[in-house]
Amino acid sequence: MKTSDLAWWQRTIAYEAYPKSFLDTRGAGTGTIAGITSKLDYLAKLGVGALWITPCYRSPMVDNGYDVQDYYAIDPSFGTMADMDELIARGREHGIRVVMDLVFNHTSEACAWFVESRSSRDNPRSDWYVWRDAKPDGSEPTNWRSIFGGSAWAWCEERQQYYLHTFAPQQPDLNWESPEVRRALYDIANFWADKGVGGFRIDAITYIKKPAVFADGPVDGEDGLSSVHNATANGEGILDFLHEFKAAVCDGRDIFTVGEANGVGADELCRWVGKDGVFDLLFEFSHTHVPMGEAEIWCKPAQWRLTDLKRVLTASQEATATNGWYPAFFENHDQPRSTVNFFRCDGPIDAKAKALGTVLLMQRGTPFLYQGEELGYGNATWTSPEQFDDVQTRGEYEFALTEGFTPEQALAACSRFSRDNARTPMQWDASANAGFTTGTPWLPVHPDYQQMNVAAQEADPNSVLCWYRRLAALRLSRDELLAGSYEELMAESEQVYAYRRQGEDGAAVVLANLSDQPAAYDAALVDGLALLAGTHGTVRPGALRPLEAVVFGTR
Ligand code: GLC
Repeated sequence: MKTSDLAWWQRTIAYEAYPKSFLDTRGAGTGTIAGITSKLDYLAKLGVGALWITPCYRSPMVDNGYDVQDYYAIDPSFGTMADMDELIARGREHGIRVVMDLVFNHTSEACAWFVESRSSRDNPRSDWYVWRDAKPDGSEPTNWRSIFGGSAWAWCEERQQYYLHTFAPQQPDLNWESPEVRRALYDIANFWADKGVGGFRIDAITYIKKPAVFADGPVDGEDGLSSVHNATANGEGILDFLHEFKAAVCDGRDIFTVGEANGVGADELCRWVGKDGVFDLLFEFSHTHVPMGEAEIWCKPAQWRLTDLKRVLTASQEATATNGWYPAFFENHDQPRSTVNFFRCDGPIDAKAKALGTVLLMQRGTPFLYQGEELGYGNATWTSPEQFDDVQTRGEYEFALTEGFTPEQALAACSRFSRDNARTPMQWDASANAGFTTGTPWLPVHPDYQQMNVAAQEADPNSVLCWYRRLAALRLSRDELLAGSYEELMAESEQVYAYRRQGEDGAAVVLANLSDQPAAYDAALVDGLALLAGTHGTVRPGALRPLEAVVFGTR
């Protein structure tokens, strides 16, 4: 395969911006769309060609926009539809296409559809959501636990029925069995596609197909509940809906889709992406489950080794080697910072960021960077549960207490995994509030911002940012790094992540020591190849210093 065989979204770098935390142009303490537009140059310098922005539709913001009230309107806190049109247009001038986030598993409870649906059992939209009668004793229809904690069912007085919410009670699940619901959702996607966006990230999509029979699951916690994820993720028949979506929205357009697919593993990727699949790319989470554990219960994290992480990353690479394409990512707005998440050793955070960034930017697929990752952010410091804004973190805190953990242990678990770690404001410069806002930031700015900010890193050639820019440019300039195959090397090593990218005319070998001890490798692996980039400047044959990363390639 050569670069010329690839679509535009396969030969670029994608970047996720979390608008609320990116840049505030109003002084209100929350970011704006105009703030993103003003930083397009910054993104272009990172080689970004696709810009995913998390939802900025009108929303009560219970889940920071993932509770959509009106899919055809921009929330006033972010700006106006004119601002969005401007971002899409200016983006194109910069070679950057905007990727909208489609939240189609659920809406906000404030969405007009739900307001109507909940009003009676016989209104025109009465079946647009997942309504069920109580059990004979009046209790919830099943014992499912929502992803944010507590029962996945909420009671509605008007209908004398429960509705299902996979996430927060303010996020009722849509009933995809209704053809009218599906049509309404496709219309929304077409409205945005007609605006010229470059594609869609499709939220929580594995939950749209509910089981034919709703039954209690095995109790898996002290709360007496059972994970809704286990009961509903990736249900039988889901792909029929998604093929319909693809035909109604994507066919014939020069856009790409990336589905968020918790519950789909590498072994199933071929049904979801590629020639016969429904999306172009799929975010699957086998690697983020390595430190967190499959159950995604923060107070019970997994024990893991580097080989566990490498194995699942390689499995995803292999699953998309000849069919489909892989979105490589280590961070997003739901994950703790990767400099914490994927290391079990000590060492300077910038060295960790550069080593992991090397692994990411040289992977086969389209790398997805998350804001701040290119600066090497760590997790924030949390000293009390009240500091958390995130609805999931509050649920996990309560759950940890239910499970018998102490408040200190619950706080420690939330500090480690909270989604707010990824959501603190971007740090642009050393001025007040890191240049993010002239108002009061909605989440605290990280105390390290005076050293750790974009302006300081742009001025320092040894910074994480400059390393990312350099590797991005390297990637985009070499056929084997864009289109070449992936083969893992040193698979048994608990220190080094190594792989080879083989193109038609050239090759590259990537070696990253992800440990804080010196590591050795067989120098024959890079025989005949020249050093293209190294975190430590010079290299030693067959040896890697702690957290050193190198890229060798055809001269
Ligand atoms: C996805 C989003 C997450 C959101 C959830 C519910 O997982 O990435 O931020 O809370 O869906 O919409």
